[in-house]
Amino acid sequence: MAIERTFSIVKPDAVAKNVIGKIYSRFEDAGLKIVASKMLHLSQEKAEGFYAEHKERPFFADLVAFMTSGPVMVQVLEGENAVLANRELMGATNPKEAAEGTIRRDFADSIDANAVHGSDALASAEREIAYFFSDDEICPRS
Ligand code: TYD
Ligand code: MG
Repeated sequence: MAIERTFSIVKPDAVAKNVIGKIYSRFEDAGLKIVASKMLHLSQEKAEGFYAEHKERPFFADLVAFMTSGPVMVQVLEGENAVLANRELMGATNPKEAAEGTIRRDFADSIDANAVHGSDALASAEREIAYFFSDDEICPRS
């Protein structure tokens, strides 16, 4: 299996609940390494650009308002099959549909305030990592 890198956000609801460390433990316990990390408060423009693929969707304005409502943690996760592995750890977009033991089942309250973001494919992971991190902010591959 390939060693991949994926992009992850601990969203404002989870930061406000003080569960950054608990979510980071889920990544580490699953064998994903945190190879870059920082706290940010997204601007409107940064959040709109990040979610540009959803700009025609009815929930877009609320999504941007939520993502700019407080600080977030952004991180790069590295490991075997990291893109899919992280999506499995996260669980379904709607926490009511998320499997037991997933991050969203355990920490999210609603489909809009759903605790975490994770890239959905290798191509989006590369784009999203570059949207938030310069090369010198990411640990070199060992
Ligand atoms: P999406 O990319 O479909 O989900 P995921 O985060 O699992 O990749 O949607 C992006 C975010 O948009 C999602 O995490 C929360 C928000 N969203 C809503 O608020 N309402 C919705 O009906 C959907 C589909 C998403
Ligand atoms: Mg998505």
